[in-house]
Amino acid sequence: MRRLAGILFPGWTFDTAALKSLWLNRRTSRHALDQSGVWRFRELLPHIPEEHAITLREGNTPLYRLPRCARSTGVKNLHAKHQGMNPTASFKDTGMTFAASSAHKGKFRWVACASTGNTSASMAAYAARGNMHSLVLIPEGKISWGKLSQALDYGALTCQLRTDFDGCVRILNDLVRQKPVCLLNSVNPYRIEGQKTAAIELMEQLAWEPPDHIIVPGGNLGNSSAIGKALLEMRELKLISRLPKLSIIQAQGANPFYRCVREFGGKKLEPMTADTLATAIRIGNPASWKKALRVLQATGGEVEQVTEIEIAAAKAEIGADGIGCEPASAVTLAGLKKLCQRGFVKAGESVVLILTGHLLKDPDFTIKFHRGDLFPGTPDQTEVAQAKSLQRAPVVLDADLGSVIAALDAAARNS
Ligand code: F0G
Repeated sequence: MRRLAGILFPGWTFDTAALKSLWLNRRTSRHALDQSGVWRFRELLPHIPEEHAITLREGNTPLYRLPRCARSTGVKNLHAKHQGMNPTASFKDTGMTFAASSAHKGKFRWVACASTGNTSASMAAYAARGNMHSLVLIPEGKISWGKLSQALDYGALTCQLRTDFDGCVRILNDLVRQKPVCLLNSVNPYRIEGQKTAAIELMEQLAWEPPDHIIVPGGNLGNSSAIGKALLEMRELKLISRLPKLSIIQAQGANPFYRCVREFGGKKLEPMTADTLATAIRIGNPASWKKALRVLQATGGEVEQVTEIEIAAAKAEIGADGIGCEPASAVTLAGLKKLCQRGFVKAGESVVLILTGHLLKDPDFTIKFHRGDLFPGTPDQTEVAQAKSLQRAPVVLDADLGSVIAALDAAARNS
């Protein structure tokens, strides 16, 4: 009998080579659970009987090279693991498949979450697949239309509350004490278990050779906790021989964890009123800050904060590599630049950015950026000017060949 992170594995001796080939071989299976990039790693997850498993074949997301971003950062070996390539287009699906399945096993009729948009989209989808009802609490006017529309289509009872994410969490916590609904925010341990698989799969994609650095956005801090937990477990099982440094990046307007580490030496987290156009991480009182802090300390990672313009520019750069992501994901590249400037990340080291959401989650942001409308009246125009070279506003022309050829020639001269 072996105990790992509170999970019992009766009879497991952990033949690492056998496990690695079992996981890889499952990718060719016709069985739904084997095709899932979460459930195929089920040996490292708590047991949930198959009849309760709700899967949309999540995970199995690509690891991309980022050649242009590599040039602009000076880090040659730069990759992005794109968790936005999940079924509902964010990293939330890897945790949600598992947590929704545990709710199904618990015979819940209702599941619920507070969300900045992605958790709600994901939960609503998995609840629908599992024939459960879902209740979504979101801050009114502060989530992207793409995410809101997903929750509606997947059939959630969607309540837009006149508060922020942290206010939604408070109401939800009170609600679950009175009603038999299963809470599916990332404080649910099954969410963290499922989200661990992103890191396991990443190591598999790198032939079990860990990168020097992994960089994640920080909001409620569930994802950093999950990836960190996976890294520590993999090292304990000798699936990997050393730990990558896990660094966490926040938006400057939503930086309670950054301040916790930098100003208070990790001793306390002071909640704040958060504000950022990267609405996914507009969070002032992150639930999992203590877990994230332990991960930071265990792996030797760093924290950074980035400005709104740095986020927008980084997002356009990731787009220009033909990949793209939503604003919250782009803090990783913006943060990497700062970590390089500080000398924490060296040019010769290998870096993986975790891109958490798909470009199409927030087209409003993208269009405003390219049209130059994202930062009206911003005082620091030099910073805005730096982002200008990345803007590609659509060109409105008369419908004649000559106009299009003139536009093409002008663009060719400038490229
Ligand atoms: N990136 C995206 C795209 C997100 O949606 C979130 C969180 C994060 C990063 C931060 O991850 O909270 O684990 O630190 N979104 C949550 C939601 C809060 O409700 O969708 P975290």
